[in-house]
Amino acid sequence: MKHYLSISDLGNLQSAAKEAISLKKDPYAFELLGKRKTICLLFFNNSLRTRLSTQKAAMNLGMEVMVMNFGNEGWQLEFQDGALMNEGKSEHIKEAAQVVSQFADIVAIRAFADLVDKEKDEAEIVLNGFKKYASIPVVNMESSVAHPLQALADAITLEENKIQERPKVVLSWAPHPKALPHAVANSFVKMMKLQDAEFVITHPKEYKLNPEITKDCKIVHDQEKALENANFVYVKNWSCYTDYGKVLSQDKNWMMTKEKLENARFMHCLPVRRNVVVEDAVLDSNQSLVIEQANNRTYSAQLVLKRILEKL
Ligand code: CP
Repeated sequence: MKHYLSISDLGNLQSAAKEAISLKKDPYAFELLGKRKTICLLFFNNSLRTRLSTQKAAMNLGMEVMVMNFGNEGWQLEFQDGALMNEGKSEHIKEAAQVVSQFADIVAIRAFADLVDKEKDEAEIVLNGFKKYASIPVVNMESSVAHPLQALADAITLEENKIQERPKVVLSWAPHPKALPHAVANSFVKMMKLQDAEFVITHPKEYKLNPEITKDCKIVHDQEKALENANFVYVKNWSCYTDYGKVLSQDKNWMMTKEKLENARFMHCLPVRRNVVVEDAVLDSNQSLVIEQANNRTYSAQLVLKRILEKL
């Protein structure tokens, strides 16, 4: 594997999840693989889990780690070819990516959607800028439209907790006061399409995701009906895709409750707003898998870095 930009870069998802589970059982089995290799983590947005788990994964493989909060510490980057740089932007992606490539063997990037211009967000200018001009592998730590490290951690969590061969998994929209990107939901949908599972998406009518991504998925607008006999319920907010980036509804009736969950296991990528997205009774119960999901972020990143290191 050269880059990890999308869940599809893994090849066979089931083998990847199983390999990650074996790394979890013996995290230092490849502690020499990354010796004298450096990963540079560049954050254009905030993080808790992604930052710490990717760092931990790299350390488990014996790598050196450099972290930079590019969003408030780096020069403002220009991405446009031929730009006249006489305003706020001080450095072009062409130089920045080549310079980072001299200091590190792998670069990992977090750069969220702005949720203003759909076309610009879908062009993934930050991630693709690094892919184009860096000479080292690029790892997606959540871009405008994808969060594949989270999706692999979710696949690992499903694999570890499923008690039947073909579980029913529901992705449910939930209310949120702020406009959130579609990246987590997009990658979860892509990952579920690679699973042997009954997969259902439920959301208010105005909150459909990118139809190219949800193509062939079962979508039910009645949340109660969608949740019937679910084994896993993955809850996530996203802003409107058609009226791009808008918060059109904060309908509290879509919040996940213990009553709605019945016997299903609860999943969320975190961070989560208690009693807005999901009630305390769910998060504080043993039906919640959120802490396991966060833990699996390490083994998701470790599997990805291991595969990249093996090809360096
Ligand atoms: N789930 C996730 O990516 O968490 P952070 O935003 O804290 O990294």
